Amino acid sequence: MSLAGKKVVVVGGSSGIGLSTAEFAKQEGAEVIIASRNVERLDDVAAKLKAVAIPVDVTSDDSVAELFAKSGAVDHVVVTAAQLRSGPFKTVAMEDVRATMECKFWGAWRVGRSAEIRPGGSLTLVSGYLSIRPRPNSAIVGAANGALESLARSLALDLAPVRVNAVSPGIIDTPIRAAMPEQARRDMLAKTAASLPVGRVGLGEDIARQIIAFMLNGFATGSVVYIDGGALVC
Ligand SMILES: NC(=O)c1ccc[n+]([C@@H]2O[C@H](COP(=O)([O-])OP(=O)(O)OC[C@H]3O[C@@H](n4cnc5c(N)ncnc54)[C@H](OP(=O)(O)O)[C@@H]3O)[C@@H](O)[C@H]2O)c1
Repeated sequence: MSLAGKKVVVVGGSSGIGLSTAEFAKQEGAEVIIASRNVERLDDVAAKLKAVAIPVDVTSDDSVAELFAKSGAVDHVVVTAAQLRSGPFKTVAMEDVRATMECKFWGAWRVGRSAEIRPGGSLTLVSGYLSIRPRPNSAIVGAANGALESLARSLALDLAPVRVNAVSPGIIDTPIRAAMPEQARRDMLAKTAASLPVGRVGLGEDIARQIIAFMLNGFATGSVVYIDGGALVC
């Protein structure tokens, strides 16, 4: 099985898990479209991958509709786009928690509504293990992830015969933590690695492999797969 002749859209494909997914999809022979906001970075990555770049902001209905008007009908869509703002439950600004849902949850919702996915194709959402393994000061992220996992199950019915699944990552070393002070980031990743049965944190490709598996497996729909290095069992 391969993705030869298939059209794949990776929303959030200019970085991290989305970038690894776009790379694998290219290797499998797909025509790949990557979409995100920062046009310079998007064009750079697209040129390296020999992919098509279409700018999008998933917080805008019109921008998402425009992306899929430009892409036309496609076979597989992945949403990795997210910007997360969390903090202590009692004091985190409502503006921040709303922004998190607007991007991560409503962004995926908009993509599901606007994408014209051919029958038998797939939509894959990316949630996160905080949905079922909460941590302090991350309630909004856990809630967004839980909502996405529930959405994937619902859409497996509403969008059938298009297949809809979610992958729920543990801690993955991607640019998502670029704003953290470097030493604090390294310390956090090292501490996490030491706590996991696999002895390391994840890489973008660890999650991308599961996303590609969802595209290729015609029996997978309504599934939520946790890929977390064993974080849920330790
Ligand atoms: N890394 C982890 O440890 C981890 C753990 C659990 C779950 N996850 C989830 O996995 C997904 C991917 O994370 P990642 O680590 O790959 O993040 P990343 O490296 O920061 O990549 C995020 C991508 O989304 C794009 N993006 C952000 N906001 C957007 C918007 N409003 N509209 C369109 N594109 C947008 C970014 O490009 P622009 O900024 O240019 O738009 C970038 O291409 C996220 O949903 C994240 O919550 C990650």
